[in-house]
Amino acid sequence: MKKISLAIAIAATAVSGLAFHASAEPVDEQLFIDGQEMISRAPAPEGHPFDEVLSGWLFREAETRAAEADSFANPGMLDVERGEEIWATVEGSAGKSCASCHNDAAETMKGVGARFPKWDADAKRPIDIELQIDKCRVDNMGAEAYKFDADEQKALTAYIKHQSLGMPVKLDLSEGEMQSWWDKGKDVYYTRTGQLNLSCASCHEASMGKYIRADHLSQGQVNGFPTYRFNTGGLVSIQNRFRGCIRDTRAEMPKAFSDELLALEVYVTWRGTGLSVETPAVRQ
Ligand code: HEC
Ligand code: HEC
Repeated sequence: MKKISLAIAIAATAVSGLAFHASAEPVDEQLFIDGQEMISRAPAPEGHPFDEVLSGWLFREAETRAAEADSFANPGMLDVERGEEIWATVEGSAGKSCASCHNDAAETMKGVGARFPKWDADAKRPIDIELQIDKCRVDNMGAEAYKFDADEQKALTAYIKHQSLGMPVKLDLSEGEMQSWWDKGKDVYYTRTGQLNLSCASCHEASMGKYIRADHLSQGQVNGFPTYRFNTGGLVSIQNRFRGCIRDTRAEMPKAFSDELLALEVYVTWRGTGLSVETPAVRQ
């Protein structure tokens, strides 16, 4: 009897290919970035599966947490500086830079990163910061859209979001058809896919707090994106992170900025309502 159940247990692990280990509480600490207090725990909005939304920072190792708390130790801040240079660089046939129209980002972009994705009436779909940058480059500068995950795209996105550091995430779902995109994103979030038959919720909701390999599973929040990752040595965009998680379930990865990933970005951003923008957060 014993032998048989052991064989079944082994087969089950082989099928899932993943083992969830013992769980641990997120740390009971307060995040200050250069002395500025961040909201890393917030009461969840109505209709949320959790009572409290938690920043991914609370789930990371002490060293990683320390690197995010100090701008000089945060390697992602170099990309933010690069973003500041791009902001002021003239490009395209109109002879303009971002600064030509938007002046000082510290004033004009403050709060913007906390309320994207937002409804875009021209495109009749939500746009995120990356798509807004492309829109301005194409329509207002006569420049080309960036290739997905171009270094410039990540740096400029991080620079814009960093102007909202500490501000609570809040989407306007009343604009246009935002609500139906939220619904679609929720569907995607709970749909099991891939050979491993897992949904986002299987890991970030049902197994939140557990360990998977060496990783402490968080709620999968996006308030720190683009994040700096030590293991790849650079910034990671929201949609690249989504694609990576989907690949880990051994499912086919949807294209960047596809309806599926954009809807997911709307929904997952909402799941972090009330958390401070932490861009650029630091991860292992
Ligand atoms: C010729 C002027 C012009 C230039 C140059 C320009 N923009 Fe814009 N930008 C606008 C206008 C007008 C809007 C508002 C309408 C819209 O969304 O397109 C806007 C909107 C935005 C927004 C959304 C702001 C909000 O409050 O929701 C962001 C972010 C932005 N631009 C970033 C950039 C970046 C980054 C660049 C450089 C790559 C840039 N813009 C270049 C004119 C410009
Ligand atoms: C097999 C388990 C698994 C599945 C399924 C999964 N993820 Fe993840 N995800 C992880 C792990 C492990 C990490 C790294 C540790 C952490 O931050 O939770 C992670 C990290 C993230 C992060 C970064 C969080 C941060 O604070 O930096 C986001 C965002 C995310 N996942 C979103 C998603 C979305 C959206 C889906 C569904 C498309 C998904 N994940 C599916 C395992 C998973």
